[in-house]
Amino acid sequence: MAGDYIITGGRPLNGTVWVPAAKNSVLPLLAASLLCSGPVRLCGVPELADVAESLALLRSAGCTAERQGADVRVDGVPGSGTLAAGPAGRMRASILFCAPLLARLGRAQTVLPGGCRIGARPIDLHLAGLVQMGACPQLEGERLLLTAPAGLHGADITLRFPSVGATETLLLAAALAQGETTLRGAAREPEISDLAEFLNRCGGRIEGAGTSTLRIEGRRGLSGCDFSPLPDRIFASTLACAAAAAGGRVELTGCPPALYAPVLEILEQMGCTVERGADRAEVARFGRLYGAGRVFTGVYPGLATDAAPLLAAAMLCAEGESSIEDVVFERRFGCAEGFERLGGRVNRSGRVLSVGPLPESGLHGATLTAPDLRGGAALVVAALSARGKSLVEETRHIDRGYAGLCEVLAS
Ligand code: EPZ
Repeated sequence: MAGDYIITGGRPLNGTVWVPAAKNSVLPLLAASLLCSGPVRLCGVPELADVAESLALLRSAGCTAERQGADVRVDGVPGSGTLAAGPAGRMRASILFCAPLLARLGRAQTVLPGGCRIGARPIDLHLAGLVQMGACPQLEGERLLLTAPAGLHGADITLRFPSVGATETLLLAAALAQGETTLRGAAREPEISDLAEFLNRCGGRIEGAGTSTLRIEGRRGLSGCDFSPLPDRIFASTLACAAAAAGGRVELTGCPPALYAPVLEILEQMGCTVERGADRAEVARFGRLYGAGRVFTGVYPGLATDAAPLLAAAMLCAEGESSIEDVVFERRFGCAEGFERLGGRVNRSGRVLSVGPLPESGLHGATLTAPDLRGGAALVVAALSARGKSLVEETRHIDRGYAGLCEVLAS
């Protein structure tokens, strides 16, 4: 079937890969462009399905949003507060487009966001913060209407969990709200700092990005700017885990290794060698892989939840046992069934996946179904180390966050 990946495993990887801009930075930046009165250019944006969906959302709000070579340009004032239901319902990040519409037009209408089925993923923290800032949400079935009859105003908000998305929503709302907002318990992920830097470059006043307390002074308007989003630490983690699983040597350029330090450290413990430079890392594995023992994810700077299935794929190829717990999402390891089909030893219990040791006969090719974005990429990584051919179906999940993953690996 068109779109399936066919992977012939059992060959080491060798090469240099440039790490593209981060999906999870580009999507909030595209939402932020709705706040800007001048044109916005995001430089070097990978061709991802979620980027195309985001451009469709911007167009449905009345903006011009188009690709210009490797860049994306967004221009024009949003004229409609209603987001196209199709793209909105297919992507988690669609919820981020509401706060800017609310701030500029006093109204935003959407459907509940879609995205990977890796947990319950409510939007209560987004909504509770917006209510504190003067918004009235109305939920009818799948349809969400937000209004702010008297406009948005600053507030003192404390998040009970440092949600990345809720921090982004409230940062976007506060940038044009009247008065000052203090956001406590905020997410500290690098994508938040990227968003704050973008808003400040457009004339915003945000302090504290990268810490758990953000202070935002609302502005009357924001200009546009040219901006290069930060590199994708999860893409880099994917290739690093692929080098561990398949063996060989992969150089990752254009991304500071500190952004995915926990992944590199665990791979080193497992027997890989890692050479680090300012914005490059080389991951090599020529000998055996050892079990990693027990590891768990956390919020930044801990091990990223998105990297958990990818590391699990590398663990599948180790001679010892490992276990990995995702504390962020309840159903992170939808890839476990595919790992078993490849002949891997796995046991899923709640949020914990126990992996390995590698059977003496190794892994063998199989037909696999991508369960979600990172779980799908994890199956690709595992298939690279399996003898024979594997077929990966439902690759539309993977295309949401990786541009040409197969071509990159084949090269
Ligand atoms: C972002 O999702 C990323 N997506 C995810 O990447 C990533 O896994 C996640 O952050 C954690 O790092 C984008 O940036 C587009 P959260 P987000 O709000 O914002 C709970 C990928 O593969 N929660 O930090 O949705 C939630 O259920 C994707 O690229 C609430 O309870 O994540 C979860 O348990 C997958 N109420 C936890 O917080 C809320 O209102 C963390 O979610 C919001 C979240």
